Amino acid sequence: MKRRIILSTGNVHKINEIKSILKDMPFEVISKNDLGYEDFDVVEDGSTLEENALKKAGELHKLTKGIVIADDTGLYVDALRGEPGVYSARYAGEHATYADNNKKLLNKLRDVSLEKRTAYFKTIIAVIFEDGSKMTAEGICNGHIAIEERGNRGFGYDPLFVPEGRDKTFSEMSEEEKNKISHRSNALKCLRNMLEEAIENFDNQ
Ligand code: IMP
Repeated sequence: MKRRIILSTGNVHKINEIKSILKDMPFEVISKNDLGYEDFDVVEDGSTLEENALKKAGELHKLTKGIVIADDTGLYVDALRGEPGVYSARYAGEHATYADNNKKLLNKLRDVSLEKRTAYFKTIIAVIFEDGSKMTAEGICNGHIAIEERGNRGFGYDPLFVPEGRDKTFSEMSEEEKNKISHRSNALKCLRNMLEEAIENFDNQ
């Protein structure tokens, strides 16, 4: 029988991306919504992405006792000494919209030349197994912050982020093109390798 992995997100894009990377593995992947936990949420008040991802996974594990996966992402801008980082979702305030955050970021970088606008996205994915043991996987995508917003796809800082070696922002790319190189897909590939090792260990026990 396939073991079940529960995703702590209700975000359909994330769910599809995770399902597609983990397809052909011996897991059934479902989301918290499939178990009736649509309203499950935690306050992401950790000082690192790891803390937040582990907290989210840990709280849902307490409720479900299953294998749980949770992620947390931040954008790190070198010229701003790593801002907004762990505060990416609420950079312009507690109830900030994506547009508010992008506006604040552009404003802070208004005197910074294109060469100095280097930045990276980082995603941490935490897994908690049935017995409470934990693992985290990391994925990074390097790039720079554009001078102005471009494109209309994606979400968050996508209209401002140009990945290394490309001319387009994430918002100017198709979902498929972004998912090939994104921080989240890099973290998911790392997670897949870790799960493959974990399966071998379970099988050998
Ligand atoms: P979360 O941990 O996935 O909720 O991400 C925290 C914040 O980082 C989001 O509110 C977005 O502003 C930003 N973010 C996360 N992933 C992406 C992405 O793939 N593109 C652009 N912004 C992102």
